[in-house]
Amino acid sequence: MNIVSSVVEVRAQVKKWRSQGLSVGLVPTMGYLHEGHRSLILRAVAENDRVVVSDFVNPIQFGPSEDLESYPRDIEADALLCEGAGAHLVFHPAPEDMYAPDFCTYVDMKELTEGLCGRTRPTHFRGVCTVVSKLFHIVAPDRAYFGQKDAQQLAVIRRMVRDLDFDIEIVGCPIVREEDGLAKSSRNTYLNAEERRAAVVLSRAVKLGRSLMENGERKASVVLAAMRELIEGEPLARIDYVEMVDAVSMRPVDEAHGSVLCAMAVYVGKTRLIDNFIFEG
Ligand code: PAF
Repeated sequence: MNIVSSVVEVRAQVKKWRSQGLSVGLVPTMGYLHEGHRSLILRAVAENDRVVVSDFVNPIQFGPSEDLESYPRDIEADALLCEGAGAHLVFHPAPEDMYAPDFCTYVDMKELTEGLCGRTRPTHFRGVCTVVSKLFHIVAPDRAYFGQKDAQQLAVIRRMVRDLDFDIEIVGCPIVREEDGLAKSSRNTYLNAEERRAAVVLSRAVKLGRSLMENGERKASVVLAAMRELIEGEPLARIDYVEMVDAVSMRPVDEAHGSVLCAMAVYVGKTRLIDNFIFEG
């Protein structure tokens, strides 16, 4: 497995694979890889001849008061995980390899990006769409793999691919959880022991919401009130949002019909965590 930092090297490698008739999968990540990322890489390896993992903390998707500087990084451990999972190439650019000093072209999306995480992170999805578009152009994969934990991101990327005619299949992969239910996330490392214990309230709320819906409840107000009440019972937790939206349009719904997403962002101490479930009504 190779680790490269320049766009030219990625393109040369992919060109070679293409000339041999090989298919290519891409797993975009910001590094500090965990079991969730490993599950994406394993799926990509099972479905493609060659797999590229991008490992890049993308500065333009962080707001001015967010955790860009402190975001955890460990490229050596990431390389070991990628190799163990069967990836063929890690693309680990420096910010200046991705963004020229006079960079000024962005991919922006309306509507789907305005609610949920977009409300507290107004420039986040512009950064995500821009970097993912760049990665799609650089690697030109057949398929790209994203986790369902970032449900809004997955919906936004699917829409971007449709709207901008990227010829790439987007594969959404299930949330991977710790034994106690906490969704795996690189940001879990910010939690101290007490916060780590409290953070399980997110997955407990997911479980509660899902079970209410499985038992026939369809009113968003009822499901969300129960989830909020549970979270508010945890003194270290502070709700950013708990919402039910249409799983494709990301528009809020009053009643669950078709495919809906129940998503939440909750601060545990200073750490903002997300979790969600999809319900097919
Ligand atoms: O989900 C992430 O880790 C990032 O948002 C992504 C898709 C790699 C873009 O930087």
